[in-house]
Amino acid sequence: MIVNVIGMGYIGLPTALMMASHGVNVVGTDYNKKLVKQLTENGKVFEEKGLSELFAAAVQSGIRFSSEYQKADIYIVSVPTPYLKKSRKIDPKYVIAACKSVLEICEDGAILVVESTISPGTIDHCVRPLIGDRQIRLAHAPERIIPGNMLHELVHNPRTIGADDRETAEIVRNLYASFCEAEIVLTDIRTAEMSKVVENTYRDINIAFANELTKICHEASMDVYEVIRIANRHPRVNILSPGPGVGGHCISVDPWFLVGDFPNLTQLIHSARNVNDSMPEYVYKRIREIMAEKAISSFSRVGLYGLTYKENVDDTRESPTLQLLDVLKHKEVDSAPVVYDPYIKDDMVPSQMYDLTEFLAKTDLVVLMVGHDEIKNNPECLSGKAVLDTRNVISLEGVYKL
Ligand SMILES: NC(=O)c1ccc[n+]([C@@H]2O[C@H](COP(=O)([O-])OP(=O)(O)OC[C@H]3O[C@@H](n4cnc5c(N)ncnc54)[C@H](O)[C@@H]3O)[C@@H](O)[C@H]2O)c1
Repeated sequence: MIVNVIGMGYIGLPTALMMASHGVNVVGTDYNKKLVKQLTENGKVFEEKGLSELFAAAVQSGIRFSSEYQKADIYIVSVPTPYLKKSRKIDPKYVIAACKSVLEICEDGAILVVESTISPGTIDHCVRPLIGDRQIRLAHAPERIIPGNMLHELVHNPRTIGADDRETAEIVRNLYASFCEAEIVLTDIRTAEMSKVVENTYRDINIAFANELTKICHEASMDVYEVIRIANRHPRVNILSPGPGVGGHCISVDPWFLVGDFPNLTQLIHSARNVNDSMPEYVYKRIREIMAEKAISSFSRVGLYGLTYKENVDDTRESPTLQLLDVLKHKEVDSAPVVYDPYIKDDMVPSQMYDLTEFLAKTDLVVLMVGHDEIKNNPECLSGKAVLDTRNVISLEGVYKL
């Protein structure tokens, strides 16, 4: 059996490596030729715990990379699924393009698995019509892994497989069971599509609740973390942690699919999205308050620590820091803040710095946007500075919180 995984990004690559290192004959395809060259020559393309070792094991087992689609028994499509800013609906163009390319090469009897997160009905509306009368079997196998702990979660997270018939579902389940040790639930395609989007929407709503509480507690001069800590003593309450916003390509995107498709039925989901999207503006207000209190007059003395959307990864997509820098573009600020992230070595934003000591020397107020271990394990380096800790990871005296 040959498996062709399409899209060698944050999800497709580790999935392909996992399968290959567990004895599956895998070809990883990406239309980005530079990426394929990099994979073929150097291996690892992004930071992730254990990825180098897994890569070596997969190469040992014979994984190949190509910019061409391959003749295979099973195709796994793991390409981006953004949303359209205007309609809030899914933008299925990458999935459609990838499926069309698969259909140009595959033989009847092949199974086409869409692993990308898609809005309920996407396979029916966008993929099924491409197949027409051909005997191609369809499945949806959404992914739940979190960057930073991907390889552990690939093995230990339960999964969902949606398919039109039991036989197809079982073939796909057996493929994932080559490396996944947790339960694999079989269902129909639409239920699999919906349950994945619902999972991320649930997270978004719960984060929004914590963020709204933060604003309320700040207004009431109360410590939100103490309130949450006490409330969570209730056996059926589990409030999440507030933060400077929601980034990444999942939680900040997938709820929009439901808002776009069901605009009259998604007041709660839509509000939650708005609350989370308002957090960078709220952080800006907190920075202004602290600058006034500490008599810091120039934004050039403000340092944003962290550019990624979560700790200890190098993924900056939709990150709260990038959102905050966007907010600043529309404000009257005398200059750009300095920005530093230990995981980002390329030029991304103005006034970016690459050395923690130099960054700290430039700042009077450090805004901790990401709780990377580097700073969590070394809080003393912040002493003597004003600090706004948006992640509640620093317990130094006098540190400002959200
Ligand atoms: N990143 C995550 O943490 C995460 C978690 C769960 C689910 N997902 C979902 O997984 C899917 C993939 O996300 P990702 O983060 O891996 O994206 P990514 O941007 O990291 O990778 C996508 C890759 O697909 C390639 N590609 C796009 N169209 C192609 C085509 N037609 N043919 C060949 N290659 C093509 C791109 O060049 C890119 O390398 C999305 O639907 C996302 O929502 C992501």
